[in-house]
Amino acid sequence: MNNFIPLSVPHISGNEWKYIKDCLKTNWVSSTGKYVDLFENKIEDYTKAKYAIACINGTSALHISLILSGISRNDEVIVPTISFIAPINAINYCNAKPVFMDVDDNYTIDIKKTIEFLNTKTIFKNGITINKKTKRKILAIIVVHVYGRSVLLDELLKVCKSKNISIIEDAAEGLGNFFEKGDNKNKHVGTIGKFGCLSFNGNKVITSGGGGMIITNNKLLAQKAKYLTTTAKDNTLEFIHNEVGYNYRLTNIQAALGLAQLEKINQYLKKKKLIYQHYKKLIGKNNKILFKEIPKFASSNHWLNLVEFIDCNTKKNLLKKIEMFKKNKIEVRPIWQLNHLQKIYKKCEKYNISNALILVNRTLCLPSSISLTTKDIKRVVAIINE
Ligand SMILES: Cc1ncc(COP(=O)(O)O)c(C=O)c1O
Repeated sequence: MNNFIPLSVPHISGNEWKYIKDCLKTNWVSSTGKYVDLFENKIEDYTKAKYAIACINGTSALHISLILSGISRNDEVIVPTISFIAPINAINYCNAKPVFMDVDDNYTIDIKKTIEFLNTKTIFKNGITINKKTKRKILAIIVVHVYGRSVLLDELLKVCKSKNISIIEDAAEGLGNFFEKGDNKNKHVGTIGKFGCLSFNGNKVITSGGGGMIITNNKLLAQKAKYLTTTAKDNTLEFIHNEVGYNYRLTNIQAALGLAQLEKINQYLKKKKLIYQHYKKLIGKNNKILFKEIPKFASSNHWLNLVEFIDCNTKKNLLKKIEMFKKNKIEVRPIWQLNHLQKIYKKCEKYNISNALILVNRTLCLPSSISLTTKDIKRVVAIINE
């Protein structure tokens, strides 16, 4: 479409064609091959995680991380209500139940409320945290580094350690975020908890078409993750499987695409930062419109830029604004639908959710693709100000 400004599209500018042609020429198209290994190695180098296991997508990475955190039928996992639905579905795949938590003004899980919930609504008995009301075990929390924003984990880590709760970091939207303050200074998001999960879906900072990665510093867990994602094959000649496994490995073709993209990540992040700075300068702050800055405790990949319309109190009004952008050939989006209000999860437990209810009616995700021009940004800001 002429003049159309999309929300977030991939940018293909490096060795993508070369590496994919190599896969096709050599017949290494499926779930083993040198590009899978290379992609994993490069993600380990970049994030400084000791181990990386390539998966078919970020959702499967979350599913396996939950299984390896011991989550099973009727256990509970705390998760923020603002997130793409994948982590909540992954909890469901384990037949476990989400406990929805509010978010702070950074759109990420409210750490204070989470700790308050753990301290007042659970008991710690025989080394296990149990929800007083439901009597179910709480073995894990999924924190989501949403929209390229990070969750400062220092305080929560200490509490979770004392309560024997694993932290799984959903870093699907966080590749390129490094902590700049606190106990984990200089570490990449996803390398602090027991597992980190990345996504290389087409709309992310880098893409492999579809794809994901589990990152961890624990050798045994890494080996188990590779085993489970490779159908738990105990004998590769006779195909003996002693456990239920999953066909979750990334293909060589996808890894080839992902590797070529990863080679460009520093260049892409520089461009994303410029886009953020440009929006920040042009939108600024006033009583009605607030460009959502990134907190200083971590660097950001600036995956999607957000703007808040302070006096927009209903979804209906927000949708009207979206319509105006659409008329001007600009794709914007509300933030993720609150998961505790999704039909399938409505009956699940939630804790003091208030801020998310306000943010969801006020916030728009702005076009943030690497290919965005200054002219495009000006066009978007003109509509915001209208
Ligand atoms: C926060 C979050 N978690 C998980 C996922 C799942 O990743 P995938 O689409 O690769 O399954 C995504 C995005 O796609 C996401 O945005």
